[in-house]
Amino acid sequence: MPQGDQGEWVIEPATVEALPDILQIEEACFSSPWTRKMLEAELSGNRFAYFIVAKRVAAGEGGSASIIGYLCFWVVFEEVRLMNLAVIESMRHKGIARALVTEALASGAAQAGTRALLEVRASNQAAHALYRSLGFRNVTTRPAYYTNPIEDALLMELDPIVSEPARLPQEFGRDGGRFTPLQ
Ligand SMILES: CC(C)(COP(=O)(O)OP(=O)(O)OC[C@H]1O[C@@H](n2cnc3c(N)ncnc32)[C@H](O)[C@@H]1OP(=O)(O)O)[C@@H](O)C(=O)NCCC(=O)NCCS
Repeated sequence: MPQGDQGEWVIEPATVEALPDILQIEEACFSSPWTRKMLEAELSGNRFAYFIVAKRVAAGEGGSASIIGYLCFWVVFEEVRLMNLAVIESMRHKGIARALVTEALASGAAQAGTRALLEVRASNQAAHALYRSLGFRNVTTRPAYYTNPIEDALLMELDPIVSEPARLPQEFGRDGGRFTPLQ
C-alpha cells in the first residue's frame, strides 16, 4: 500500500463512508465544488469511475484515520481520465497529490489504459506544475470551460502512460461500485 516516507499517510480505495470528509475537502478547495450527489455518483454509480483517498495514519490511536486528499479518475478503455483531485491545505507539498496521481496511472495502466488526460483551470499553476512533473504536456485550451469564475481549461495529456510497475495496485478492481481484488 503506497504511503508517505515517514509512513504518516496511506492511499486506499474510497468507500461511501468517506463521502462527508471528501465533500468537506471539495468545498474548501474549489470555487465550483462537486455536489454530494455528484461525488456519490462517482463513488457508487459510475462503472468507469475509481475513487482513491489519502488518509492520515494516527500513530497509536484507535480512532478512524482522517482523509487528507482524494482523486477520482475514470478508466474508459485505453483512456485514463483524471477527474477530481484535492489535498487539504495543511498537508500540501508532501508528495500526496503526486502519489495519488501515480496510483491512478498505475491502476489505469494495469487495466490496459495507454494514455491519460485531464482538464485544469488555466490559472492553476500548482496543478500545472504537478502534472508537468509527471510528464503531462499541454494539448490545447478549451475556452470558457469553467464557471464561477469563468475560465479557460487547459487540456493536458500523458501519452503513453508512464507508471511505476513496482507500485501497481493489484488490489484495485471494482464490482458494483466497490473496489475488490482483481483476479
Ligand atoms: C494541486 C494540489 C492537488 C497539489 O497537491 P500537493 O499534495 O501539495 O502536491 P505534491 O506535494 O504532490 O506536489 C507534487 C509536485 O507538484 C508541484 N506543485 C505542487 N504544489 C505546487 C505549488 N503550490 N506551486 C508550484 N508547484 C507545485 C511541484 O512540482 C511538486 O513537486 P516538488 O514538491 O518536488 O516540487 C493541491 O495544491 C490542491 O489540492 N489544490 C486545490 C485543488 C486543486 O487545484 N486541484 C487540482 C485540480 S486539477
